[in-house]
Amino acid sequence: MAEPKVFIKTYGCQMNELDSEFILGDLLARGFRRAENESEADVVLLNTCCVREMPERKAFGKMGLLGEMKRDNPNLILGLCGCMAQKRKETLFKQMPFLDIVCGPSQIGQLAEMVVSVQRTRTRQIRIEEDAAGRLDFRKASRRSAIKAFVSIMHGCDNYCSYCVVPYVRGREQSRPPEQILAEIEDLAGRGYKEVTLLGQNVNSYGKGFAASYDLVDLLEQVNQIPGIERIRFVTSHPKDISLRLMEAMARLEKVCEHLHFPLQSGADRILQLMNRGYALADYVRLVDALRAVMPDIALGTDIIVGFPTETEEDFRDTLEAMRRIEYDSAFIFKYSTREGTAAARLPDDVPPEKKKERNQELLELQEEISLRRNRRWIGQEVEVLVEGPSKRNPDKMMGRTRQNHIAVFDGGTELAGSLARVTVVRATALTLFGELAQRGDASPGRALAHRRRQLRPMRRTYNPK
Ligand code: 5AD
Ligand code: SF4
Repeated sequence: MAEPKVFIKTYGCQMNELDSEFILGDLLARGFRRAENESEADVVLLNTCCVREMPERKAFGKMGLLGEMKRDNPNLILGLCGCMAQKRKETLFKQMPFLDIVCGPSQIGQLAEMVVSVQRTRTRQIRIEEDAAGRLDFRKASRRSAIKAFVSIMHGCDNYCSYCVVPYVRGREQSRPPEQILAEIEDLAGRGYKEVTLLGQNVNSYGKGFAASYDLVDLLEQVNQIPGIERIRFVTSHPKDISLRLMEAMARLEKVCEHLHFPLQSGADRILQLMNRGYALADYVRLVDALRAVMPDIALGTDIIVGFPTETEEDFRDTLEAMRRIEYDSAFIFKYSTREGTAAARLPDDVPPEKKKERNQELLELQEEISLRRNRRWIGQEVEVLVEGPSKRNPDKMMGRTRQNHIAVFDGGTELAGSLARVTVVRATALTLFGELAQRGDASPGRALAHRRRQLRPMRRTYNPK
């Protein structure tokens, strides 16, 4: 019999993407093959997210359709894993009688075995314990990219932002020992990877709970020394935990990119307090000023929630004003959705859906204008691009990312994939920099840094909150 084929669909964050790479790797090691789509698959797994209502609704819809497919193909094995599985547990079997597997995010190391058990015994399988005992060996991941990789440095979250379900489904914060992380990155470097993104819900509190004092800065220092790795990024940073020491290290360590995802969530202090974020706008702005003082060319990204319970027009205007004055390079805007069990679920979800939509739209439009303006500042400058491969939209061109994480598209051959190219920016849209190859080759990070320092253009702004 031909090897069974598996298809995994991933919803939600980078953590989920990484988990899916592990699950796929584990199944491939057991003789499964990767299916191109769900219709040719014998096993379909949905790796789900429950952070907002939308991805959850999409996964439900998708599983419903797969259930219908199973009528024609009763041997099809269907599994739901990730955060939704953890949150809804066995009730999922009642809601979806065709479902074979429910597996929480801490147990994905067991998932391949569960699939094999269903094949053999045709009985349903469920694993939703919260300890991370079932995590996979990193070497098993079947990674999508051969150039850049996600590396998990911590699990869970202890922050309890009032809107957020993550602490309830991903458990308490737990940092991975540095030796394990460094071994993983050394292994990646040995296999030719050039960029790593360190992942955690709140990486700024990495190391909390270790017996010896060791934090994100110590980890970055060590990763920075691994030969072969050219770029280091980390997400997500919580403003209440970012230190000046970290900012200084970002500026000093040449492989750490000048890019920070730094979610503000709201520009209104009253809402920030209701969100339990632990800072006021003025504190946040001081941090942004400090970041831009040590790294004038840093690109900043944010997450904003519109329509949080009780958000007034004035609160929303505060957010608009904050975004206008901080000038992010990129922003994700979300409409608030109530998540059962969170503190905010006890507040009235009183901003009407049309209002949320309107506010969402207004912020998107503002951000597009700002992104375009900021991206245009790069025109005429030479940037360092880690080349990923042909551009999807325009396959005769190559694409990659700048250190600031902008997408860059430029003329060049496929042989550049995996190298650091110098590109002169000639045109910019809100999402992409377009350029011409200035000089090719694997510029050493030292050179990259010297180059970067030389071409700095002051982007620093001072901000005086009302
Ligand atoms: N409603 C809307 N957005 C949310 N986020 C988290 N929880 C909710 C919610 N209940 C957003 C936050 C977070 C991002 C990952 O998702 O902005 O930073
Ligand atoms: Fe959720 Fe806040 Fe933790 Fe982020 S820091 S995962 S928003 S509780």
